Amino acid sequence: MTNLDERTDATVLPNGLTLDDARSQAARAYELDRAHVFHSWSAQAEIAPMTIVASQGSYIWDGDGNRLLDFASQLVFTNIGHQHPKVVAAIQEQAAKLCTIAPQHANDARSEAARLIAERTPGDLNKIFFTNGGADANEHALRMARLHTGRYKVLTRYRSYHGGTDTAINMTGDPRRWPNDYGNSGAVHFFGPFLYRSHFNATTEEQESERALAHLDEVIRLEGPATIAAIVLESVPGTAGIMVPPPGYMAGVRELCDRYGIVMIADEVMAGFGRTGKWFAIDHFDVTPDLITFAKGVTSGYVPLGGVAISPAIAETFAHRAYPGGLTYSGHPLATAAAVATINAMEDEGMVANAARIGAEILGPGLADIAGRHRSVGEVRGLGVFWAVELVADQQTKEPLAPYGASSAAMNAVVGACKQGGMIPFANFNRIHVVPPCAVSEQEARDGLAILDAALDVADSHL
Ligand SMILES: Cc1ncc(COP(=O)(O)O)c(C=O)c1O
Repeated sequence: MTNLDERTDATVLPNGLTLDDARSQAARAYELDRAHVFHSWSAQAEIAPMTIVASQGSYIWDGDGNRLLDFASQLVFTNIGHQHPKVVAAIQEQAAKLCTIAPQHANDARSEAARLIAERTPGDLNKIFFTNGGADANEHALRMARLHTGRYKVLTRYRSYHGGTDTAINMTGDPRRWPNDYGNSGAVHFFGPFLYRSHFNATTEEQESERALAHLDEVIRLEGPATIAAIVLESVPGTAGIMVPPPGYMAGVRELCDRYGIVMIADEVMAGFGRTGKWFAIDHFDVTPDLITFAKGVTSGYVPLGGVAISPAIAETFAHRAYPGGLTYSGHPLATAAAVATINAMEDEGMVANAARIGAEILGPGLADIAGRHRSVGEVRGLGVFWAVELVADQQTKEPLAPYGASSAAMNAVVGACKQGGMIPFANFNRIHVVPPCAVSEQEARDGLAILDAALDVADSHL
């Protein structure tokens, strides 16, 4: 295993900080963080946040000056990698030109970002409502659907994440919903397709797709089709486990929505903007939803931005009737300038195609090879730069290496071994997700897999 100090191969970090300065800034940042910063989703006294002092491309540097491969893309958002010079420059130029204007005015950065996004969304989704992130994008998409249909309920799947605000967390199908769920949100959950842990006793993708659609149809009929405004689905569920829908499933959901007059909302907050090897994950299924929500990759997280891409029929609902919603920073110039530069950089440098190629040629085969050599791996699945490694205590029973909604000593040891080896993984319950930037190089992808491979020996040793 690489010694941490050996990886500290420079005395000056990419942002110009000397190692000594970086270490003293990190110590001060950590002290102030623990004194004053209240962190998301955490028991405040039980956390020890990693301090990050610099980043570049696929790497970050921690408070001790150690370089780590960012195989998590932070929270799966740095699709172009860290500190892309063209995007940094675009933000600086926009700041010098026009830092901010209110949402009721027009400006070139917002208009151009809307054009570039609308050009890439499937079908006729042509209007963009900008939000500050993914949760509020889902909140607004559902509000649009409710007003458009005059219905209230929303169907979403178990094993999903749609955001941390009130309605979005209630749409969510993971344990983070439980303490926030008062049973009055109008969200009803159903089972989506997940062959490895099939709820339908299916043994083939075809069966899983058919049975999951029959189940959804039944949920709709039992709930009352005329009460359901929308079905909200991640095109490929992300944090919940990267379960790529089997052939026919998304088209079947589209057909059910059409049959019952339900709005189809595709949540592309994590899966969108290149992550799956296409601009939007829904493009793998040849389906046009009525609304697409996005965030994260649209600016690679350089400035917060999210939004909703809207079909002509739903836009028409609000042509002569005010849309009752808005945000002070909707379409903020710094954020939309970052979106324009991000999309152009992705296009110019072929990053979407790179994500597809890295998935098909390096991560897919590499993870399949890893799965064949480790008793702790139950399944690997994914596409593009969006992969999950499902860790199990027993390959036969598929007992997860950590219980649903929790961690375990074995999982903590795997994550620790990845970091010790020089890589930050994305971990959730019993899964490690391999989610590097879309711009990751072949060598970086191979290096990350080698570190994961070694870390999985630690998982095996816990069995
Ligand atoms: C699929 C999905 N939807 C919505 C969200 C919420 O986005 P945000 O944290 O920007 O509000 C996330 C965040 O991880 C997500 O993965």
